[in-house]
Parts: sequence; structure tokens; C-alpha cells
Amino acid sequence: MLRTDRADNNVPLSKTCGRRSNAVSDINFIIMSAMNPQIQAFFDAATGTVTYVVHDGRDCAIIDPVLDYDPRSGRTATTSADAVVAFVRDHGLTPVWLLETHAHADHLSAAPYLKQVLGGRIAIGSHIADVQQAFARVFPQAPGVRREFDHLIAPDEVLTIGTLQLQALHVPGHTPADLAYRIGDAVFVGDTLFMPDVGSARCDFPGGCAATLYRSVRRLLALPPATRLFMCHDYPPAGRPARWETTVAEQRAHNIHMHDGVTEQQFVEMRTRRDATLPMPVLILPAIQVNISAGQLPEAEANGVRYLKIPLDAF
Ligand SMILES: [Fe+2]
Repeated sequence: MLRTDRADNNVPLSKTCGRRSNAVSDINFIIMSAMNPQIQAFFDAATGTVTYVVHDGRDCAIIDPVLDYDPRSGRTATTSADAVVAFVRDHGLTPVWLLETHAHADHLSAAPYLKQVLGGRIAIGSHIADVQQAFARVFPQAPGVRREFDHLIAPDEVLTIGTLQLQALHVPGHTPADLAYRIGDAVFVGDTLFMPDVGSARCDFPGGCAATLYRSVRRLLALPPATRLFMCHDYPPAGRPARWETTVAEQRAHNIHMHDGVTEQQFVEMRTRRDATLPMPVLILPAIQVNISAGQLPEAEANGVRYLKIPLDAF
């Protein structure tokens, strides 16, 4: 099973790692709409990823959609995405936003496919530029060639989904560009926290920083205790079915890495030690080159075949 919390330990950390910034300071959350969203989750067992459709009965956002990809054959498929399409159509929903919490390293995004089939605008955090820059050494693209996202979301920007309001919380640490999406009493946490018995996301990708993740998570856990938290992944221990919903109170009491009382220093030491033992995710090279280009697959070459690039001896 793939684990987002696995890693290559030889990539440079951000020069600003651990520095306090506005992005992770204890700023007050704005008062959000009282409207709580309706939420449908789709769990992809192959990558441990959860895709969400968040809606008000009419308009919706789709968060972190998965394009099926078999690294052995190089075949893509839309089985997972088509389950989302069926739900959206069955409920008469109109997708307004196709949102990524960050540039995933464990799966390819299905956002372009969903945009083509259902509509909606593809968006990601504005700090994706930092991630693109971090990988430019191995996946360079000439200016103007990169297929851009439809919208880059600024920290704390508010988006509208019909009668719902979404606030994008900048929660860097796993990557510089991670966002969590707060809608009513629900927060889609991306790769910050995992379920309490799994812990937290790895911090050793380019631009990652354990101290920064600690501060981002503390920001999330300062929300009201009953706030519903929806995970981006679950990697259930043997014998436990996959789960993806918990609360601030449950995380503060039971998260094995980030429960109340864990200091920043303790977390950083634990996370650094653990990340040093983790291999790179199986799909990081296929996934990153696609996902930093808004999920667009490469154009076909003269022979009609599309190719992904595998850099040799670069990591
Ligand atoms: Fe991730």
C-alpha cells in the first residue's frame, strides 16, 4: 500500500523551514457562513486517497479527484472519477470548483477529466509556484508552456459554492502550498493530519518542513472542538476499515503525533526520525510532473503516444 507519509530523505528542505510567518501564525479565522455542507466521500483503496463532493443540494466543489494509473502498464483509467461523475449527475449538482489541497505525490489528478465532463474551474494554492520551482530542476518547462490552473487560491481567500462559503486555510509543512478548506463546520485538511491512530503527513519533500507543519496543525486544532475534520488519506492499520472523518476534539485527545501536550520540538524530532526511514512514494515521479501542471497529461508525440518522464539519478 502506498503511503503519503513515506519519503526520500535526500531532498533539500526549504530555507525558510521553521520560520514563523503570517501563513502559519495564529490569525483569527473569519466568521463563516452558518450553512453546513453536505458531503459525499469516495475512497480510492489503491492510493488511500479520499475524494469529496461538497454541496448545498445544487452547486458543488470536488476536492482531490483521482485519475486511476497503473505504474506497471502505464495505463490510465477513469473508473474512480466516473463514480464521482455519476454521483454529481444523479444529484443534479453543478460543479463550481475542482480543488486540489496540494500537488499530490501519490496519485494523478482527475481534475482535467472532470472539468471536461462536468465543468468547473481547477484551483490550487497560490504557493504551488514554490512547488513548481522546487521541481523545475527535473521537470523544467519553458515559460508559457506550462498548462496553468484556472485559479490560484490566496491564503485565507474565500470561495463561493452556491450558498456555501469556503475559506482556504494555508497549512504548509508537507509542501509549501498545502491548503485546508473550511466550509461551515467541516474542514478538509489535506496532507496535514491523518486519522488519530496514523498521525501526520511526512515533511521531507522539497519545501517541506516539520516545524511549519506543527504550526499549521496547531492552527487547525484551535478550531472549535466539534469541527468535523475530513482526511485526504487513510492508511488504516491492519484490521481497521478505512475511515476519513474525525473531529478537532478527537485529534487533540488521541492523535499519536499531535495530541495536546506534544511540543514543536518533540514533533520535529519524531517527524524527522520517521521521515528518514520512508521510501519515496511509488507514483511520485509520474504524479508530480502531471499535478504541478494542473493535472494535464502530456501531449501525444509524433507517433500518437503520450509519455511521462522518469528522471534518472535525480533523487
Ligand atoms: Fe501529499
